[in-house]
Amino acid sequence: MNPNIILIGFMGCGKSTLGRRLAGRLGHEFLDSDDIITAKTGKSIAQIFSDEGETHFRELETEALRGLAAARGIVLATGGGAVLREENRTLLKNLGKVVWLHADPDTLFERASRSGRRPLLEVENPRSSFNSLLESRLPVYRATANLELDATGLSHEQVLEKLLRALDGWTAEIPAPQI
Ligand code: S3P
Repeated sequence: MNPNIILIGFMGCGKSTLGRRLAGRLGHEFLDSDDIITAKTGKSIAQIFSDEGETHFRELETEALRGLAAARGIVLATGGGAVLREENRTLLKNLGKVVWLHADPDTLFERASRSGRRPLLEVENPRSSFNSLLESRLPVYRATANLELDATGLSHEQVLEKLLRALDGWTAEIPAPQI
C-alpha cells in the first residue's frame, strides 16, 4: 500500500514546503500541480493568467489533475483554487487522501502576498480580494478534505510531525480526525 497524499488549502498555507518534506519522509515522489502546468506550457502561472486568463489556467489545472489519475506513491501539492471545480474535487478524492492545510487568515495573507507571484493577489486591494476568496473557499476545502491540519503557530517541522502522526494508522474506514 502506497497511498497518495493530496494537499489542498489556500495560497500561503505551506502546501509545497510541507509536501516536499512529507514526500521525503514517506519515500514518495513530490509533485506540485502548478509546476506541472509551468513545465508543460513553459510559462509561469502569472504569465498564463496575464496572457490567457484565469479560465484557461483552470483548464490547464484540470488537465494536469486528469493526467495524474494513475499515479501511485505521490504527495501532490495543489494550487489554492484546484478545489473549485467539481471535476477536480472528484479527481483529487479518487487520487488519494486529501489533507486540508490551513492557518489563521493573517498568517495566510502575510505568506501569500510575500512572493508577488500570485496573480489573484496582484490587485488594487489585495487584502479585500484575499478575504472574499478565503471566505468563499473555506467550505469547499472543508467539504473536500478527509483530514484538516491547522498549522497556526507551528514550525514546518511541527506541522510535518503532526501530519505524520495523523496519517499513521489512519485507514479509510475510520472517520477522518480533525487535528
Ligand atoms: C491560486 C493559487 C496558486 C496558483 C494560482 C491560483 C488560487 O497556487 O495555482 O495562482 O486560485 O488560489 P498556490 O496555492 O500554490 O499559491
